[in-house]
Amino acid sequence: MNVTEAVNTRRSVRAFLDTPVSGEVLREAVALAARSASGGNLQPWRLYVLGGDTLTDLKARMQKRLATGPTSDPTEYEIYPPDLWEPHRTERYAVGEEMYALLGTPRTDKAGRMRQFARNFQFFDAPAALFCYVDRRMGRPQWSDLGMYLQTLMLLLRERGLDSCPQECWSVYPKTIAEFLQPPEELMLFCGMAIGYADPDAPVNSLRTRRLPLDQFATFRGI
Ligand SMILES: Cc1cc2nc3c(=O)[nH]c(=O)nc-3n(C[C@H](O)[C@H](O)[C@H](O)COP(=O)(O)O)c2cc1C
Repeated sequence: MNVTEAVNTRRSVRAFLDTPVSGEVLREAVALAARSASGGNLQPWRLYVLGGDTLTDLKARMQKRLATGPTSDPTEYEIYPPDLWEPHRTERYAVGEEMYALLGTPRTDKAGRMRQFARNFQFFDAPAALFCYVDRRMGRPQWSDLGMYLQTLMLLLRERGLDSCPQECWSVYPKTIAEFLQPPEELMLFCGMAIGYADPDAPVNSLRTRRLPLDQFATFRGI
């Protein structure tokens, strides 16, 4: 698989097969993704990669946590800016509606949508997962480095036949996850990521998200 194919076939997968993921393959991809660029070569990403009984334990813990009610832990960052503006607002709405349409869950089925959202916290049944942390003293430039790392990793996973879903929804339960992982005090949770083999029969995985036209996000001059 070349890079173009990896970029084109990477998508957020929200239903996985129970086929196990090799720890060796995962270790290799997580290591290689650290070849990503980072400002000043700070390499600010910190990863916790989970599978097996550890992941099963966490999923069980999350099920219990969610059963206590929908109240989140105190959060450390806002996922989106308040009052999101165009064209971002429309895109955000569109991806949600397209996904729920594939799942056959209309807007009126609030319970159904909540159930689907809760599947995030089972990593959509993926057999492997990771959490990406960053030292909370880091600034916006280092946060962009996290994105470089995560995208590189997702492409390397594609090359190995694996699929993924990055998940910032985990950032609403930082305390619950920290109790489980016991990360160093200075780390804050950015996101989780489900990792595994896509279920080819799951309608939700047929979602091909749209993109803004080139001239809306890029300006070319003199070329
Ligand atoms: C940092 C980050 C966090 C995300 N968080 C979630 C999430 O919590 N749950 C989810 O289902 N998808 C999540 N996504 C997936 C996005 O919805 C998805 O990337 C976007 O709609 C584009 O679709 P694609 O990944 O299939 O190309 C996240 C993506 C990124 C990059």
